Amino acid sequence: MSARSVCIVGSGNWGSAIAKIVGNNVKERREHFKECVPMYMYEEEFNGRKLTEIVNTEHENIKYLPGIKLPENVVAIPNLLEASKDADILIFVLPHQFVKKICDELQGKIKTSAIAVSLIKGFAISEEGIQLISRLISNILSIPCGVLSGANLAGEVASEQFCETTIGSKDKEIGELLKLLFETPYFHCSVVEDTDTVELCGALKNVVAIGAGIVDGMGYGDNTKAAVQRLGLMEMIKFAEVFFEGSKTSTFFQSCGIADLVATCHGGRNRLLGENVVKSKKSLKELEKEILKGQSFQGPLVAKEIYGMLEEKDMLNRFPLFVAIHNICERKMDPKEFVNCLRNHPEHL
Ligand SMILES: NC(=O)c1ccc[n+]([C@@H]2O[C@H](COP(=O)([O-])OP(=O)(O)OC[C@H]3O[C@@H](n4cnc5c(N)ncnc54)[C@H](O)[C@@H]3O)[C@@H](O)[C@H]2O)c1
Repeated sequence: MSARSVCIVGSGNWGSAIAKIVGNNVKERREHFKECVPMYMYEEEFNGRKLTEIVNTEHENIKYLPGIKLPENVVAIPNLLEASKDADILIFVLPHQFVKKICDELQGKIKTSAIAVSLIKGFAISEEGIQLISRLISNILSIPCGVLSGANLAGEVASEQFCETTIGSKDKEIGELLKLLFETPYFHCSVVEDTDTVELCGALKNVVAIGAGIVDGMGYGDNTKAAVQRLGLMEMIKFAEVFFEGSKTSTFFQSCGIADLVATCHGGRNRLLGENVVKSKKSLKELEKEILKGQSFQGPLVAKEIYGMLEEKDMLNRFPLFVAIHNICERKMDPKEFVNCLRNHPEHL
């Protein structure tokens, strides 16, 4: 096949870090990819100038990834349809809440032979419950969609600190093509076929991270936090077994699983939320407003959905950690009870 055209849909912190990788890789792998990489950018003003204009002249996203130069072949475009019209590969990397609207706009307007890859962490949560973002993209656009997820903080990746990531693709050839697009000496990509689990890990780890924050807030040390991480991982594996048929335990030992879980339980917003739930009497809404300035945390939303799914299947007692985290977030359980829930966990029986 001739060289493929790549379009990046999204241009925030992670989108810009990925633009640096992809922009450089396509220049080196011209037999596989076209050199120009359009990047759809939601237009914003920054310091009185359009962000697209700043990116296209200074080659730096000074709002979302300051201090990192982007390759000049990455071109910021504020019009979604213009950016994506020739794309053979669409990289979705924007906050989950905008995905549906963006896909609705793209429906019927992209190449029917295109493929997608989602770098988005979290679930789409609708009235029908939890949906994997890659499924949402694939269903709306009628194209295959792989995933990429791992312990990958954008700032560290952009400054070329070594890390690993996991690519999930049901189609092996597409998986290898995506590896060619993303891998660098500092960004190691492993490819697995178990796409659902790769994506699932990225959402469930946020619930466990709230638990890590709860024990931090209570003043416990690293041993207790390690217990939260281990038991949390066991519940993640069990949840995948129950609700996502075909999920493989080995996938949890990839970067998308254990590595991302550990990283998120030590840094990250959901851990911070857990700590604040213990230390302050404020409601979740107030804490969200204070910490995230209006956006919503994924962890509590996912915990709530999981609670509903488990209640329906009469399985609450098999997932006591997920259940306790939900109840503590809802202020229906005293955080002091959390350690009892670890102590009496069914994994210990
Ligand atoms: N930041 C990281 O370190 C990191 C690492 C791995 C994965 N991720 C995942 O990548 C995804 C994107 O995260 P990010 O850190 O790049 O996000 P971000 O918060 O930095 O980016 C916000 C982006 O959303 C755009 N935006 C704002 N309003 C919009 C609208 N109405 N419609 C469309 N776009 C709009 C902004 O212009 C900006 O480009 C998330 O799912 C995140 O979980 C992030």
